[in-house]
Amino acid sequence: MRVLGIETSCDETGVAIYDTEKGLLAHALHSQVELHASYGGVVPELASRDHVRKVLPLIRQLFHDGGVDASSLDGVAYTAGPGLVGALLVGASVGRSLAWSWGVPAVGVHHMEGHLLAPMLEREPPPFPFVAMLVSGGHTQLVEVARFGHYQLLGESLDDAAGEAFDKTAKLLGLPYPGGPELAKLAEQGDSSRYRFPRPMTNRPGLDFSFSGLKTFALNTLQEAGKQEGGVISQQTRADIARAFEEAVVDTLLIKCRRAVRQTGIKTLVLAGGVSANRRLRLRIDGMMSKEGGAAYYPRPEFCTDNGAMIAYAGCQRLLAGEAVALRFSVQPRWPMETLVLDDIT
Ligand code: KG4
Ligand code: ZN
Repeated sequence: MRVLGIETSCDETGVAIYDTEKGLLAHALHSQVELHASYGGVVPELASRDHVRKVLPLIRQLFHDGGVDASSLDGVAYTAGPGLVGALLVGASVGRSLAWSWGVPAVGVHHMEGHLLAPMLEREPPPFPFVAMLVSGGHTQLVEVARFGHYQLLGESLDDAAGEAFDKTAKLLGLPYPGGPELAKLAEQGDSSRYRFPRPMTNRPGLDFSFSGLKTFALNTLQEAGKQEGGVISQQTRADIARAFEEAVVDTLLIKCRRAVRQTGIKTLVLAGGVSANRRLRLRIDGMMSKEGGAAYYPRPEFCTDNGAMIAYAGCQRLLAGEAVALRFSVQPRWPMETLVLDDIT
């Protein structure tokens, strides 16, 4: 089976073709980072309009790069939620229309299911069952994955997502949007012994997270440093704060992952979503999992953040299981993942 995947839930237009025999045939991405940078965050209406402009030329380029003809496709998958409603509608309407014109089925994919299946595109995919930690700009979730389409939520953030905390703290530090990777870069020059941030919700049982207090802690630390340094905060101090913040997030995520692995007895851990590109997080998680006698799996860095490949892959699994939606379609800006159930693939 060969499937075209379309991702337009937020600020990246991503398209890809996945083939069950040959794997990923081609993928292409257009990032809207420059478009939103001067606003310090994603402007939903600008995002939708840019998806409209870019999605069809990107699909044309994809066919060209992959040497693929539309007539060889067996289905189309698009992100149906969660995400920005206008942005989702672009991918959904283009995906459905193309599928209809090519006479193939179309399927709406859950964006977070896409993220959690992204490591399946690697040479060594994780074996089922596994525990997945999804850490993106909008979600922080621990999920027990029995097999395709069987997900149980173990814990999630009660307020800000990990990526959101990175982005907001980066903004406080005067870093450009999107802040996560910029903050990680600044933290490289930081001294980890100068400041210590709290590890929220780690000293009580459970697998939920809370990250909003960390940005307040960063703000207070910055204000205090400002007073001590006579109003102008040095680059070294900003790097030290970035480092302390990053260590706190990484430690907190690691403690909860270890708890989930011990609680479920499942020794395979998958990390996915934008924050899983973080180098320090990967290093620490690898160390922890080898101590636990297990292993951690990640998507390649470019598939940690939003992309079309994960949607093509997840959609392909759903089409193989016989799922396809009628011509009428809707998108779901909010969509709890526990509602997803997939029959076994025969
Ligand atoms: O999965 P994603 O591309 O989009 C959502 O579905 O939200 O994740 C984007 C998030 C942003 O918050 C970004 O700052 C964060 O992932 N991010 C990182 C890194 N790379 C991306 N956070 C920390 N360290 C990184 N290296
Ligand atoms: Zn995402």
